Amino acid sequence: MCGIVGYIGYEQAAPFLIDGLEKLQYRGYDSAGVCTNDGEKLIVEKEQGKLEELQDMTDNGNNVKGTVGIGHTRWATHGRPSKENAHPHLSQSGKFAVVHNGIIENYMPLKQHLLENGMTFSSQTDTEVVVQLLEYYYDGSFIDTVIKVVSMLKGSYALGIMCMDDPDEIIAVRKGSPLIVGIGEKENYLASDVPAILDKTRNIYRLDNDEIAVIRRDGVSVIDRNKNNIEKSVEIIEWDIDAAQKGGYEHFMMKEIMEQPKAVRDTVFSRIKDDRVILDEIKLTPEQIRDFQKINIIACGSAYHVGVVAKYIFEKILRKPVEVDIASEFKYRDPIIDEKTLTIVISQSGETADTKEAMEEAQKLGSHAIAIVNVVGSTIASEADSVIYTLAGPEIAVATTKAYSAQLAVIYLMAVYFGDILGKINQEDYKYYISELKSLPEKIKSILETSESIKDIAQKYYECKDIFFIGRNIDYALSLEGSLKLKEISYIHSEAYAAGELKHGTISLIEDGTLVIALATYGRLYEKVISNIKEVQTRGASVLAIGCEDQTELNKITGNTIFIPKACDIMLPSLAVVPMQLLAYYVASFKGCDIDKPRNLAKSVTVE
Ligand code: G6P
Repeated sequence: MCGIVGYIGYEQAAPFLIDGLEKLQYRGYDSAGVCTNDGEKLIVEKEQGKLEELQDMTDNGNNVKGTVGIGHTRWATHGRPSKENAHPHLSQSGKFAVVHNGIIENYMPLKQHLLENGMTFSSQTDTEVVVQLLEYYYDGSFIDTVIKVVSMLKGSYALGIMCMDDPDEIIAVRKGSPLIVGIGEKENYLASDVPAILDKTRNIYRLDNDEIAVIRRDGVSVIDRNKNNIEKSVEIIEWDIDAAQKGGYEHFMMKEIMEQPKAVRDTVFSRIKDDRVILDEIKLTPEQIRDFQKINIIACGSAYHVGVVAKYIFEKILRKPVEVDIASEFKYRDPIIDEKTLTIVISQSGETADTKEAMEEAQKLGSHAIAIVNVVGSTIASEADSVIYTLAGPEIAVATTKAYSAQLAVIYLMAVYFGDILGKINQEDYKYYISELKSLPEKIKSILETSESIKDIAQKYYECKDIFFIGRNIDYALSLEGSLKLKEISYIHSEAYAAGELKHGTISLIEDGTLVIALATYGRLYEKVISNIKEVQTRGASVLAIGCEDQTELNKITGNTIFIPKACDIMLPSLAVVPMQLLAYYVASFKGCDIDKPRNLAKSVTVE
């Protein structure tokens, strides 16, 4: 979840590196640094804290000399956030410099070996072991030493490496963590993600595991570990830099909330032809689909919450048992699955380490893994048996919104597609689902148009200390996301409860004025949620309800209701999530929080 950028050309490197790091901050931001070769030595400038510290220290890179360099933003894993633990790391004599994303799992024995042989360390990071190994094993050949050292490493890494003896090269290696090489005119670039270099080029190579790129001013060669050349095809990035920037909004999060009609439209409409759902991406025959006995869904964070919604929907429509697991739990619970189990993994980034490893575990047990992923070419997308891409576009705010909505849209598409193959949906229902799917973007848009009224509600509640979310069935699944959105960006303590479960303990926390947000969209259980609302009101709670526009009684009971348009019940989460996202956003905004970069969080968690 750190960011890497590199430059080699004829311009001053550091201003480009710092600009690139700014665009990668969402990958981690507890410290940042750059290293350049000034012609005499490798110079490192790094600082703890936000990138602004480094920008001020270096005058946006202008006072750092050199036309070749590497840079990094860090989100701490090994070693606390500090200047000495920030990257780039220099080897003992200053001959090598390294930036690294990922985790070197065997760094302890390697470090011990180096210490016993007289090497000294100046940080607590796993990364420093790489740079000291390079110095220790250096035999006069930059590339041979890199190959030797990476063969000793266990874990995941994307590395950008410079060597004083080869001032006209950056070497990059990838295993498990993403890395791209940008191809320019008389200059070339390195980055862990596209936005960092999009100002300069649209032509990239995406490095695969174990590939090594030797990047020079006049060209790039990609080789394997036996130094055989690898023919890479150039990928041309179609989306615009504007798509990765704020587009006039104060925060990426608001921009991304507003982009949801488009994200859902693109994701849905590209899979509906002649009013039929086409999911060619699923590499399974109808017979294989009919043969599955259960479905196993794995994800983390908000993607996991999509999985919880999916469980309700799939079980209702497909009548197959569905298990949904948090990826980090799944891996270690000896799951009972086999080739008769269909696995679905959900991940915006496609790089979440826990999700990736859980998927591998399921695949090892013989399960076909379908990945629902937003980032094209990401690790999970490459390793899954089938991939369905959400077409949400790049998502920058740490708190996901449009990717969550696009993931939900894929779940509806899959429910209709599988339901048809399994013979669980009649033609009338099929038509109904298709027309409801197609109307979702407009309905989401109509909710977004009421954002000012949600801002007023946020102003009333932003000083709350605790907020509870309750709901039943898919409203419960959705309340998990509402609660997470609020707590992650506003830092208000919040919990989501199945409405019927509250009375088994947590209701003791309700006191005069406690805010309870009650989701009451799901028609079949509407009356039951009304009873739960009354239970908390009796104990002094102030209730904000979210219901469908025809549930007018809700407002008589609460006097405080956000209404959403009516829709087919399984698709209501796509509508009800929108006011909760807006509420979280405005509450955080009134509190003056750093909305796009909430404390302690990272967009993409590429460590276990
Ligand atoms: C991080 C993010 C969450 C996200 C989760 C899963 O924790 O902060 O917003 O839901 O990772 O990420 P993924 O990329 O796998 O969807």
